[in-house]
Amino acid sequence: MILDNKTRSLGDAVRLVILQAGALAKDYFQNQANLAVSLKNPKDLVTEADIRVENFIRDQLTSLYPQYGFWGEESGKPDNLDQFWVVDPIDGTHSFYRGQYFWSISIALQIGSDITVGAVYAPALDDLYFSEKDGGSTKNGKPIRVSQTNNLAEAMVCTGFACLRSNLKNNNLERFSRIALKTRDQRRYGSAALDLCMVADGQLDAFWEQNLNLYDVAAGALIAKEAGASVSDFSGREGMFPENILVTNGRIKDRMVELM
Ligand code: IPD
Ligand code: CA
Ligand code: CA
Repeated sequence: MILDNKTRSLGDAVRLVILQAGALAKDYFQNQANLAVSLKNPKDLVTEADIRVENFIRDQLTSLYPQYGFWGEESGKPDNLDQFWVVDPIDGTHSFYRGQYFWSISIALQIGSDITVGAVYAPALDDLYFSEKDGGSTKNGKPIRVSQTNNLAEAMVCTGFACLRSNLKNNNLERFSRIALKTRDQRRYGSAALDLCMVADGQLDAFWEQNLNLYDVAAGALIAKEAGASVSDFSGREGMFPENILVTNGRIKDRMVELM
């Protein structure tokens, strides 16, 4: 069903589209018997669900807002990079494929150099994170803020290993060990978009990862920033850098930068 944008704000339309996409993804998630799966490379799966969910989101958003380009992970960059949607139809495909709950759908709108809208939905958890630039962030409609953790010894941190998927020699393993020795606890959930939302919601105190793409982080980084997080590269330079992103509750940023 193609929505009409005459009666809805853009934010409402994005929320509706991501929830409908979530229902489609969850149907695949719960009926995986004949799910087609292929390899992008030996360590990177893509499923029929990734493709179908992205096609659904693209059809809805380009029909509602034909003025915006569409960059989906599975379909590639558009010509229009002035203002475009950036979408990861299933972030955490490996988790999805194994029947685990930590996977999500990520939709962001980039206008010029600004991410102006971000939505991340975790269908298996039924959690919807949402933000508009300068408008704060919500989880299931309720405002969220980063944690108050002030020191690493009490911090729970999270990362991922995209670098290993790309067989990078300069990878995250030594950095992870260094940080693990200084922090209370560590997590690797498998969906960078959701990891970023968990920092925004105070469930985690910091997230970092190398070698991500814009579609992994665009929505989650806006949601985190609007919830009070610091968003920087590993050196602490403010901004969103998918190739080496560090997002913290702000209070432990400097100590994390020292360890990166
Ligand atoms: C992956 C997830 C994972 C991260 C990988 C990403 P995908 O996304 O975000 O947490 O560590 O680097 O590629 O490939 O499942 O969309
Ligand atoms: Ca992804
Ligand atoms: Ca993906």
